[in-house]
Amino acid sequence: MHKIIINGGKKLEGEITVSGAKNSAVALIPAAILCDETITLANVPNISDVEALEDILKHLNAGIERRDNGELYISSNTIENKKIDKKLAKKLRASYYFMGALLGKYKKCEMCFPGGCSIGTRPIDLHLKGFEALGATIKEKGDNYIIQADELKGAKIYLDFASVGATINIMFAAVRAEGTTIINNAAKEPEIVNVATYLNNMGAKITGAGTKKIKIEGVKYLHSCFHEVIPDRIEAGTYEIIGAACSTNLKVNNIIPEHLESLNNKLKEMGVDITVNDDSAIIKESTNLKSVCVTTAVYPGFPTDLQQVLATLMTQGTGESEIHENIFENRFQNLYELKKMGAKVKVDGDRAYIKGKTTLTGTEVYATDLRAGAGLVVAGLIAEGTTVIDNADLILRGYEGIVDKLRAVGADITLK
Ligand code: UD1
Repeated sequence: MHKIIINGGKKLEGEITVSGAKNSAVALIPAAILCDETITLANVPNISDVEALEDILKHLNAGIERRDNGELYISSNTIENKKIDKKLAKKLRASYYFMGALLGKYKKCEMCFPGGCSIGTRPIDLHLKGFEALGATIKEKGDNYIIQADELKGAKIYLDFASVGATINIMFAAVRAEGTTIINNAAKEPEIVNVATYLNNMGAKITGAGTKKIKIEGVKYLHSCFHEVIPDRIEAGTYEIIGAACSTNLKVNNIIPEHLESLNNKLKEMGVDITVNDDSAIIKESTNLKSVCVTTAVYPGFPTDLQQVLATLMTQGTGESEIHENIFENRFQNLYELKKMGAKVKVDGDRAYIKGKTTLTGTEVYATDLRAGAGLVVAGLIAEGTTVIDNADLILRGYEGIVDKLRAVGADITLK
């Protein structure tokens, strides 16, 4: 396991360019299976979650080649539909996308329950109910799932919760099914639009992605395509928060401002000096930050993935900030680590209260999950003295070159 070591208190200045979105890439890569030809993905982030998916594709005997320019070529002509065992599936949450992709293409998938950050129970019942509605049967033995269908037929599916993973997985299973599928109460996250555009580029017939009603007319064949991964809105948001916490002038490049509206409004409410341009944001030294209340919600609400990062900035706002976490049950573990650095925090069920302004002091902390780890990086950059973040591999799952990017703008940060 790696550690990230930060000598805090440096004022950052310069430009950071955001990479391709993890949560798009991790769906686009398994979906290459659905294609009958070779696909090219551009702007694929170089992160360990992508490597883990590449390993699964290699295990399935797909052709895969990564170029230095961030392009990934995937050819699924040679695929053998083998069981995806624990060692491969548990490495990340998004391994669940192989369920929809293999079912959609081969009408069968055998794999272990996915892994991922421990931020709640994270069941996959909505995915499975969707597969069943399309005609699949599911055999569950311990952690192992066998999902198969003689035939997949379009159906009307209502999601009890607008789940990102379930929406995408059902699209995968439905894209080559016979007839029309409607997903009602679908998730509307930008990554879903990115995935639907990709499938349409291959010849799928999907409309309504980005709204709560997605229509998928099944097709028989999907052809090769070139597709670009959208910029990572969570990575962008993380660097904006870092800019607010400790920069004199930080420009965050390659953003889609519409994807960051809820965060940018919250930052302005806190008193952050942020200027948003067409595809970048400039954050200048922000003093006299104020406390705010944040409620996480499905897109376009405030993303749960950024509340843990914003929590660190809240320690620098005067007054009591509040977070109401609505998506996951166990997403405040970062606060116990922040406490070790001097933060004044209180957790009460799905709510957390953070009192500021507090001086944070460097110490040894533990990244309990990916975004918790990102929040600790922000804390380490602000803190007096040295912060050692243990279990930093979790951070590398979702942030391409985070140490190099931060060092280039003046941070004293190393990976060991
Ligand atoms: C995805 C993102 C994650 C983000 C989350 C919410 C990926 C790989 N991960 O996770 O970074 O934090 O969206 O924006 O894209 N649920 C069920 N049953 C299901 C599926 C979900 O009860 O079958 C619940 C979950 O436990 C959770 C909520 O629905 O409470 C939202 O989950 P979902 O949107 O599915 O998140 P993920 O796809 O796991």
